Amino acid sequence: KHGVFTYDPGFMSTASCESQITFIDGNKGILLHRGYPIEELADNADYLETCYLLLYGDLPNAEQKAKFNHSIMHHTMVHQQIHTFFNGFRRDSHPMAIMVAVVGALAAFYHDSLDINDQNHREITAHRLISKMPTIAAMVYKYSIGQPFAYPRNDLDYASNFLHMMFSNPCEEYKVNPVMAAAMDKIFILHADHEQNASTSTVRLTGSTGANPFACISAGIAALWGPAHGGANEAVLSMLEEIGDESNIEAFIERAKDKNDPFRLMGFGHRVYKNYDPRAKVMKAHADEVLKELGQVNDPLLKIAMKLEKIALEDEYFVQKKLYPNVDFYSGILLRAMGIPTSMFTVIFALGRTAGWIAHWKEMIDGDYRIGRPRQLYTGATERQYPKK
Ligand code: SDX
Repeated sequence: KHGVFTYDPGFMSTASCESQITFIDGNKGILLHRGYPIEELADNADYLETCYLLLYGDLPNAEQKAKFNHSIMHHTMVHQQIHTFFNGFRRDSHPMAIMVAVVGALAAFYHDSLDINDQNHREITAHRLISKMPTIAAMVYKYSIGQPFAYPRNDLDYASNFLHMMFSNPCEEYKVNPVMAAAMDKIFILHADHEQNASTSTVRLTGSTGANPFACISAGIAALWGPAHGGANEAVLSMLEEIGDESNIEAFIERAKDKNDPFRLMGFGHRVYKNYDPRAKVMKAHADEVLKELGQVNDPLLKIAMKLEKIALEDEYFVQKKLYPNVDFYSGILLRAMGIPTSMFTVIFALGRTAGWIAHWKEMIDGDYRIGRPRQLYTGATERQYPKK
C-alpha cells in the first residue's frame, strides 16, 4: 500500500540498508549526521563543514577545513561549453528539467575522473559536484530570466557565492545580505542528508550498477522533483496561495482528511517522522528571523502557514495519524522571503542534498557492494497456456 516491496539478498548487499552517515528516530523526531544532532550542526557548523562530516565521518580540524574549502571553492566554474548547452532549452523550462540534464551531462565534460574504481577519481568527482551545483543552479535561474550568467567568485563563502551568482548583474555592484547568506547556508545544512529517502535510494541503486557519479546525482535530482518528495516545498507555496485567507483553512483541512479528495496538506506528514521533523523547527526559527530582518513579518502567507500549523496540530485526525510539519513546510516561505522564485525551491533542495547523495554514493562505492536488485510481490496471473488455434 505504501510502496512496500521485499529486498532480495542482492539488494541488501549493496549496503543500501546499512550506512554510518545518518540516523533518524521518527517517533522521537531525532536526526543525527555522523552522531551530531541536526540542531547543533545548524547552530554551529557551516554547510561545507557538514559536507566534510557527511563525506569523511568527522568534523574537519582547521587544516582539513581550509584544504577542503579551497578544493571546493576553487572548482566552482563549469566548462565554458556548458554555457552554450543551455541554449537548447526553452527559457520557461522547469529548472529541475534543466538540472537533471546539465548535471547528467557533466560526465561528458569531466570524463577524466570517471573511473569509479579509482579512489582519487571518486574524491575528485565528489568535490566537483559540491563545487559546481550552485553554479549550475544559478545559471538555470539566470537563463530563465534572460540575464547573463554571473561567474563564481573565490572571495565569497559558499552560500554568499551562490546568492551572488543568483542576484548580481553586470550593471551594478551587488552586496550579499549577510543575514540571507547565513539563512541560505542553514537551508543547505537542513537539506544535506536524510538517510534512505527516495532520491538517496535512487542514487545508491544507480551507483550500484557502476554508473558514473554525475549520472547517479542526475537520477537523484529526477526522483527529488516529485511533489511527494522534494517538490513539496514548491507545492506548499501553491497550497498557501490557493488557501488565500485564514478563513479558508478549515475547509482545506477537511479536504485533506477526505479520502475521496486527492488533496494533501503539503509540507505535512512523513514516512518516517511520526513526530515534529526537527528540521522544520530550525527552519521555522530562521524564517521568523529572516522575515524580521527583511521587514516581512506581516507576510500573509506566513500568517496562513502559522494558523494552518496550529489548527492541524490540534486536529484529531492529524494527531491520530501523527502528521506534523516536515522540512518543506517552512522552507518555501523562507526562500520566497529571500527573493528565490518558487520554481527554484526544489533546485535549492537538490543543491543542499548533493552532499548527502554523494556521501552515500561514496560510502557504498568505497565499501563492498553488489548491484541492487529489488524484488516485487507478484500479484499477477498464474502461468497459463496460449489458446490453441
Ligand atoms: C520529504 O523520505 C524522506 O526522508 C523525505 C524527506 C527528505 O529529507 O528526503 O524528508 C523530504 O520528502 C518530506 C515530505 C514532503 N512531502 C510532502 O509534504 C507531501 C505531503 N505529504 C504526504 O504526501 C505524505 O505525508 C508523504 C508522502 C510525505 C508520506 O506519505 P505516506 O508514507 O503515505 O504517509 P504516511 O504513511 O505517514 O500516511 C499515514 C496516513 C495515510 O492515511 P491512511 O492511508 O493510513 O488512511 O496519513 C495520511 C495518509 O493518507 N497522510 C496525509 C498526509 N500525509 C499522510 N493526509 C493528509 N495530508 C497529508 N499531508
